[in-house]
Amino acid sequence: MGTGCGVNGSVAASKSHHGVAVDVNPIAVDCAKRNAERNGVAGRVEVRESDLFENVSGRFDLILFDPPFRWFRPNDLYERATADENCETLTSLFQQVKAYLTGSGRILLSFGTTGDIDYLHELVAQAGLKTEELRKVEGEKDGLTVAYLVYRFTVPSHPVSGCDSLALLASKEPLPRARSRGDEVR
Ligand SMILES: C[S@@+](CC[C@H](N)C(=O)[O-])C[C@H]1O[C@@H](n2cnc3c(N)ncnc32)[C@H](O)[C@@H]1O
Repeated sequence: MGTGCGVNGSVAASKSHHGVAVDVNPIAVDCAKRNAERNGVAGRVEVRESDLFENVSGRFDLILFDPPFRWFRPNDLYERATADENCETLTSLFQQVKAYLTGSGRILLSFGTTGDIDYLHELVAQAGLKTEELRKVEGEKDGLTVAYLVYRFTVPSHPVSGCDSLALLASKEPLPRARSRGDEVR
């Protein structure tokens, strides 16, 4: 999802029989296609233009997304790489994603505390997904401590009740919060 230059789609294709790589930006789609050809995996990955799952069907064992996580309005298609107005793409992703995962399917998603990470966890809890933090790297940006994380989200084997979802949220370590969607945008 949001394949950009196609690196994630090509690596996933090199380890699987069949993959689908999509992006809302047609220039990224063209670039991802050419990179799949260069890396010898074009026969195993279909690359196409799609706003999230608009042009996607089927269920997947693995969905990779390095989403735009700044919540302000992008000025053009290029800025959609980093900006997602009011987290609309992120919200729609978690509203839809379970319909595209196999029972043991997983989502690997990267995110940063320069985005509204609390809102990400709200969406994940609402979707009833289990969260695992796989990687966390801390650094400094504009004088603020920031963290970049990689998460794995999975469908729990037993249905999650409302109380369990809250427990999942409460069990998370508090993360440094740099900004949230309500904050003024520079
Ligand atoms: C942070 S970039 C990912 C870059 C990619 N990992 C790479 O290495 O090139 C986010 C990507 O998501 C795409 N994107 C943003 N909103 C999208 C949407 N609603 N549906 C599909 N792709 C989207 C952007 O065009 C951009 O290519």
